[in-house]
Amino acid sequence: MQTAISAENIVVELGGRTILDDVSFDVKQGEFVAVLGPNGAGKTTLFKVLLGLIAPVRGKISVLGKPPRRGAGEIGYTPQHRVLETDLALRARDVVGFGLDGNKWGIGFGGRKRNAAIDKVLDEVGVCHLADAPVGRLSGGEQQQMFIAQALISNPGILMLDEPLSNLDISRAREIVALLAGISRNRGVSVMLISHDINPLLHSVDRVLYLAGGHGVMGAPQEVITSETLSMLYSSKVDVIRSDGRIFVAGAEI
Ligand SMILES: Nc1ncnc2c1ncn2[C@@H]1O[C@H](COP(=O)(O)OP(=O)(O)OP(=O)(O)O)[C@@H](O)[C@H]1O
Ligand SMILES: [Mg+2]
Repeated sequence: MQTAISAENIVVELGGRTILDDVSFDVKQGEFVAVLGPNGAGKTTLFKVLLGLIAPVRGKISVLGKPPRRGAGEIGYTPQHRVLETDLALRARDVVGFGLDGNKWGIGFGGRKRNAAIDKVLDEVGVCHLADAPVGRLSGGEQQQMFIAQALISNPGILMLDEPLSNLDISRAREIVALLAGISRNRGVSVMLISHDINPLLHSVDRVLYLAGGHGVMGAPQEVITSETLSMLYSSKVDVIRSDGRIFVAGAEI
């Protein structure tokens, strides 16, 4: 399988602090990767580095064979903490359509063609019935589906989703994870998803990238989420408990 993203020994400093210290990983084409780690571990920062918004002080990064660059259309991105105001005078289809603007598809992609593309992607993520609903009326989960549609509409090779499962109940989280697993498998899109809970993702992701203490470890969930590996990463004792097909991490902020 081809490599979609590779990062070698990257070091990122912000405000005089080292946030990522010698982090290396890669993501294959069509791979589904969960990015885990405690608050402040640098997960969002890492996404911004891959988007070309923050430059590392050291290391080598390649995104679809090129250095990261701002505004590259080949990444669909949903930022963290995105909730739209209830009184916003926009319909779901307007918000999804913004995903076509500012890239090569935005220009000359008018009227009927644009609407057809919006309907298709809303259908794909399972909310075509909400196309004309005012966005403020959508539930948190429905807004997440809409943002995934917005990120997907330009046919990106990579999807980067920053905590799309926060505020979702377990069944809606599972639905979104199943949707993303299908997109990675069927369309060959590489998906990176930041989460604080591995459980809804456990049986769907190919690998996890665990960030803590400035460092990162990548591998299959069973290899990475162990007492041994996490204790090493956190530099303190962490207990990983497996019960009923679920994983609980104790002794560390996750
Ligand atoms: N522009 C900045 N200047 C200085 N420090 C920053 C800047 N942006 C982020 N940081 C710091 O970098 C660290 C990593 O932040 P980041 O947002 O990447 O964490 P995170 O892993 O996404 O955490 P969370 O789970 O809370 O979202 C934090 O300590 C944060 O305060
Ligand atoms: Mg974050």
